[in-house]
Amino acid sequence: MLQKLSSSKSGPLRGVSRVPGDKSISHRALIFGALATGRTHIKGLLEAEDVLATGKALGQLGAGVERTPGGWCVTGRGVGGLTGAPGKLDFGNSGTGARLMMGVIAGLDIATVFTGDQSLSSRPMGRVLLPLKRMGLEVGGDDDTLPLTLTGTTDLLPIEYELPVPSAQVKSAILLAGLHAPGKTTVFERAATRDHTERMMRHFGAEITVRPDGARTAITVTGDAELAGQHVTVPGDPSSAAFLTAAALVTQGSQITIEGVLVNPARTGFYDTLKEMGAKLDFSNPREEGGEPVADIAVASGPLRGVLVPADRAPSMIDEYPVLAVVAAYAKGETRMEGLGELRVKESDRLASTLAGLTACGVDAQAGGDWLVVRGGEPIAGAAQIETHMDHRIAMAFLVMGLGAQAPVVIDNAGIIATSFPEFSEIMRGLGAQIETSKA
Ligand code: S3P
Repeated sequence: MLQKLSSSKSGPLRGVSRVPGDKSISHRALIFGALATGRTHIKGLLEAEDVLATGKALGQLGAGVERTPGGWCVTGRGVGGLTGAPGKLDFGNSGTGARLMMGVIAGLDIATVFTGDQSLSSRPMGRVLLPLKRMGLEVGGDDDTLPLTLTGTTDLLPIEYELPVPSAQVKSAILLAGLHAPGKTTVFERAATRDHTERMMRHFGAEITVRPDGARTAITVTGDAELAGQHVTVPGDPSSAAFLTAAALVTQGSQITIEGVLVNPARTGFYDTLKEMGAKLDFSNPREEGGEPVADIAVASGPLRGVLVPADRAPSMIDEYPVLAVVAAYAKGETRMEGLGELRVKESDRLASTLAGLTACGVDAQAGGDWLVVRGGEPIAGAAQIETHMDHRIAMAFLVMGLGAQAPVVIDNAGIIATSFPEFSEIMRGLGAQIETSKA
């Protein structure tokens, strides 16, 4: 039976905390380490199920992936050097792991079967497979969902491709394949998505250029690349820090600090929105870690007001909408979030799961094809059991909801949180949050 967790009225939250390493950067650190020659030492890697699945897949392909006293060490095989008969590669719940690794497999002369859990097996892979097929990847399977048999080739073709959806996963898969192709592969994007792949390619010594091209940005990687092992420090995940931040905002008298959080501008839309809502947030001690900007974030609770969150902000906060919707329920007035189409194809249909959770907790909310409206500021009933639909962010968002509600909020699947933030409950309890195992 699935374990349930319940959260109840808490506060004030107090303390100084850190969150585990950024999930996006952790996947990439392992992958680039495996594509480099020599050793890559990673500090602060996120040790969560999603990232460990990518590490395991790289191990099956012949890279050395080991935990060491100081972090993780990856012994790479060079671009095109991964081999072996890996059989099935199981990516669990992770869209990032599966999609980025499709770009790697495209350039290898091997056949593998990609599998995942029930949630991942219902997510669209066509958006990645279409450009990769154009480069030479062979795909066996009935449609564009896992399980799929993928056969790569050492004769990959470089392409030019404009992203039809703003997706860093699609961009990254093409750039990773491009490392294996002769000549230049270019991805055009109309909306900026997270640029961790570009930054890390540069860090590992790949030739990559990013330039404006009219209304688009052109990202070009030169293939047949040679990468060398590096030291990588992974900053704290702003998408995980978002839950702590939201918890402090919805509980009275709270004051917390989260140290060492990634503040790459392609990831901070949630924090920009909170500031517009009147949240007391203070960013201090700005610094750089492993080629990425990092800061400490102090959060204090106080009155919040509803805002309009414009569609063009979506890529910079795509994983934060469920928890923003929870904060909006505690803010006075209407919060309207636009441009949410991509939420429909996340670990769950996040627009539907978020709306269902809000409604179950007694919050006045409505959604359309790609928008969500939350009318907040009234006391929140809670007293709800939330269906997480195998979605870690739905689980954590609604545990935050319960911290300010009149009666507890229960989530139906505590285990799913381990996909991205295994220490969530422990860290939250350390700050004073009432989160307990539930038998209800
Ligand atoms: C990610 C990109 C985003 C995000 C996911 C991680 C990445 O997905 O939702 O959690 O690491 O590249 P899309 O790029 O598909 O929007």
